[in-house]
Amino acid sequence: MKNYDVAVIGGGIIGCSIAYHLAKEKLDVAVFESGQVGGKATSAAAGMLGAHSECDDLEVFYPFARNSQLAYQKLQEELVDVCGIDIQLKSGGIYKLAFSEGEKSQLSSLLDLPTVEWHGSAQVLKNETAVNEHINGAAYIRDDIHVLPGLACRAFSKSAQLMGASIFEYTPVLNVQKADSSYFVKTAGGNIGAKYVVIANGVWSSTFFEALGLSHRVIPVKGECLSVSNESISLKHTLFHNHNYIVPRSNGTLVIGATMIENEWDERPTLGGIEELIAAAKELIPAAGDMRIESFWAGLRPSTFDQQPFIGFHPEEKGILFATGHFRNGILLAPGTGQMIRDLILEREVRNDWIDAFKIDRQKQVLV
Ligand code: FAD
Ligand code: GLY
Repeated sequence: MKNYDVAVIGGGIIGCSIAYHLAKEKLDVAVFESGQVGGKATSAAAGMLGAHSECDDLEVFYPFARNSQLAYQKLQEELVDVCGIDIQLKSGGIYKLAFSEGEKSQLSSLLDLPTVEWHGSAQVLKNETAVNEHINGAAYIRDDIHVLPGLACRAFSKSAQLMGASIFEYTPVLNVQKADSSYFVKTAGGNIGAKYVVIANGVWSSTFFEALGLSHRVIPVKGECLSVSNESISLKHTLFHNHNYIVPRSNGTLVIGATMIENEWDERPTLGGIEELIAAAKELIPAAGDMRIESFWAGLRPSTFDQQPFIGFHPEEKGILFATGHFRNGILLAPGTGQMIRDLILEREVRNDWIDAFKIDRQKQVLV
């Protein structure tokens, strides 16, 4: 039986980033993926690195997310050098739109950050001529750029492989058992041993929780998206309003996303979902009705009870780690999660507030 330093369960962007960061440190890593690398939530994502636009918590989430966002700048070149894949980090930033004074005031804490500035309606309409003229203004976030998520995931997995990691596609993990000082991992392709096991299989992670003595759940929040071609309408910025957005990809298509359907396991898009997206797109860009549909799809976001990820060690089993529940931000948080898992395994320093905020046995916050 082959023994690895680390077995990673799940070959989405989280598992592949972890494999990359560990293989770079010369650890012997194996990734086990049920289907194709990046084939689930990762390839459904719009790819926004929304450290500011998706942030409700400036104390802990923001510094973690911002560190991960900035890490992409260096990774872009590094991944091209190692494996030749360009993750298509696209500049332009996000316009987080406000239609009313109330919506503007909801942006106030974001606008206090030095990385965010207010653009009034005249400025927004000058920069983005297709936007609804009833706009009040927008928070302009230059650094909330985006990547092509499927490519980013493949760049991590291919680079990890070139640095010595083993990637097993179509090889689901069936269970994990303790065996003396290491773990016995049973997969559909045979059994292996590992000193550390990282549970990173997205919305399906809870499959392993009960056997590990945990009653936690990872909750699916289905998201549907639509892509359209934009021969007459071009966007320089991603438009973001409530949970909806329109992301201009480098090839000229626009990604319109996304619905939020809690506790839904069916991965097929629905007519109702697509209808909702079209209505939201028309609110942002009144001429959107003329755009041509290219494709539509759906994916399951892995959410948790407080919508923060589970990253860190099992409370008792020091060879089991979790890296799951990244909800709306798995693409953004992939580099930071890979770094944190690497540092925990290598016993390097990790910020205590990140350990506390993301540990699986954290307390539920009770509102008083
Ligand atoms: P996944 O990509 O789902 O990977 C988990 C993998 O585990 C799967 O490939 C699965 O096949 C595998 N697996 C399952 N069970 C087993 C098993 N037993 N053994 C082996 N393998 C197994 N995030 C952003 O940061 N920016 C965005 O713009 C963004 N947009 C989104 C838009 C939509 C519509 C959706 C649905 C999500 C979006 N997200 C976005 C969220 C992001 O996609 C997820 O947080 C992220 O992909 C989670 O990555 P993951 O690797 O944990 O999960
Ligand atoms: N972060 C965008 C989404 O989850 O839809």
